[in-house]
Amino acid sequence: MAASDVGLRARHLFQSAFGEAPTVVARASGRVNLIGDHIDYAGGTVLPMALSAHTVAAAGALGMEGVDAAVDQFTSEWSGATKADSDAWKRYPRGVLDALREAGYQIPLLKIALASDVPVGAGLSSSAALEVSVARAALLSIGLAVEPRTIALICQRAEHVSAGVPCGIMDQWVVAHAQSGEALHLDCAALQSSFVSLPDTMRIEVIDSGVRHALSDGGYAERRADVETATRKLGVGYLAHLPRVRWPEIAELAPRIARRARHVVTEAARVHDAMRALASNDIEHFGALLFESHQSLRDDFEVSVPELDALVTRARSDGALGARMTGGGFGGSIVVAWRS
Ligand code: GLA
Repeated sequence: MAASDVGLRARHLFQSAFGEAPTVVARASGRVNLIGDHIDYAGGTVLPMALSAHTVAAAGALGMEGVDAAVDQFTSEWSGATKADSDAWKRYPRGVLDALREAGYQIPLLKIALASDVPVGAGLSSSAALEVSVARAALLSIGLAVEPRTIALICQRAEHVSAGVPCGIMDQWVVAHAQSGEALHLDCAALQSSFVSLPDTMRIEVIDSGVRHALSDGGYAERRADVETATRKLGVGYLAHLPRVRWPEIAELAPRIARRARHVVTEAARVHDAMRALASNDIEHFGALLFESHQSLRDDFEVSVPELDALVTRARSDGALGARMTGGGFGGSIVVAWRS
């Protein structure tokens, strides 16, 4: 779907829901993580890439009609899909507007229409795309262009508070900083990132398993709690920074905590190796690291599902350089590297 189509859909939706044209329109891409999952909240470095699929927020200030109720109004392409989930998505835009106002931005009451071609629950950061597009639209409505770092941190807070997902910073950061097709090397402890170009001998594909995840279901928070336990027991600031000479201490932890910790330290090392492989155009080694990452997320971190494992196995037998589940897991997508 071309970029402008999503923008057009958001404008039309706004017009039909609110009977006028939006005053501002803002967009944000989804993302695929190439390597480095479940280490952003452990101080690791990660390598996500912005997708061409994106979300568009069309907005305008609420006139007198909304002032009595004093609530923002939202409509989206997802509205009314089923009764049960017809309103669940609204906590994301609501959370972003709350977080912006708490941070001191004087955002007026808004009406917002959202359209997107980022599949929801597919591990491609549909929620971060929604959050960042809303934050940009809200800030534009008061004439402000705020730096991406601030937008990322406000949107992460919105996700923690309103959606109840204790996510790391990776998704909101890459979505706020990168444009379609750009990869970022992000140090989640220092909050510094730089653009990375991928060799043109390699092509990246994303395959959606169709299995839908909801990170708010609890598995994500449990994994994060396990990582925090390991961090405390090992007495480090960030688990991803545990020096290699101390890795043997991991085996002394309770078995489940040890598996989680082993994933974190080895995944952090794999991202480092992946960056070196890219720098020397060693796409075979880059691909092998993706396969290893999948194995670690499946066996040690236990966030894969059989459908994702089957897709990775198929990609391997079809001759892929590498493949792995991407994002939080429990469903969603795989990312595949092919020789182009
Ligand atoms: C989700 C979270 C991110 C990150 C990934 C796993 O996408 O939002 O912060 O933890 O899972 O890498």
